[in-house]
Amino acid sequence: MFPVELPRRLIKMFTFVGDTVLDPFLGSGTTSLAALELDRNSVGFEINPEFLPFIEQKLGMGKHGEQRLFSQPEFKTIKQKLPNIDFEKEIKKLPYIFKDPVKLDKKVDPKQLQFGSKIDKNSEKREEYYTVKEIISPEMMVLKNDLKIKLIGIKVDTRKREKAIGYLEQKLTGQQVFLKYDDAVKKADGYKPVYLYLRNKTFINAHLIKENLVLVDESYEFKHRDRFLKYQGSSVSSRK
Ligand SMILES: C[S@@+](CC[C@H](N)C(=O)[O-])C[C@H]1O[C@@H](n2cnc3c(N)ncnc32)[C@H](O)[C@@H]1O
Repeated sequence: MFPVELPRRLIKMFTFVGDTVLDPFLGSGTTSLAALELDRNSVGFEINPEFLPFIEQKLGMGKHGEQRLFSQPEFKTIKQKLPNIDFEKEIKKLPYIFKDPVKLDKKVDPKQLQFGSKIDKNSEKREEYYTVKEIISPEMMVLKNDLKIKLIGIKVDTRKREKAIGYLEQKLTGQQVFLKYDDAVKKADGYKPVYLYLRNKTFINAHLIKENLVLVDESYEFKHRDRFLKYQGSSVSSRK
């Protein structure tokens, strides 16, 4: 149900007094109420007959109209007869039938893929724990729920690639991890950019840099950029 102010503004914007407004999904009749109050006619379709009493009440139809002081609008309710159609047969007659070739990957939880807007209001407060299934490279991993993640702010140092993977295996195997996101960083190539933490709050992105196993990726902006560069700077001596 939407507030009457919504159709009211739209009806004012797009119609004149005396015009007819159509709402193909009438629900409780809010659109028709706004139309009525603005001296427009209206027609509405509603598939669910249980809405009729609510529509009648909202619009002041029949006995609900007794209190009406000024206007005397006309109301008409038409009950559509059920059409006698064999839909399966009708569909077979169509020139072509669309079959969606894109199979949805049901294993991916869309709540994990949100950016900026939140699908449910608790999703940011609650820390969810995951385990890492596969380490593809020092910056890319796959979680057990098949979510592909990419660690924000780091890039592979090719000479230390194997050592970094070994370090991650040792840190992450059998461990619960949680993710934090950065609004400034956009998803690329199907990998969700994340800051990765062990359950005990060890910040994996930062540790990889401190341990001098990866480089800071300076090609884009991210929240912890200055901090990571500082870590990289202070690990120079160990690099030598
Ligand atoms: C979200 S509600 C509309 C609510 C309405 N804006 C209000 O403020 O009350 C959508 C309505 O469309 C109806 N509906 C869905 N499919 C329909 C169809 N094919 N024909 C007519 N009504 C349909 C549903 O029963 C539901 O009541």
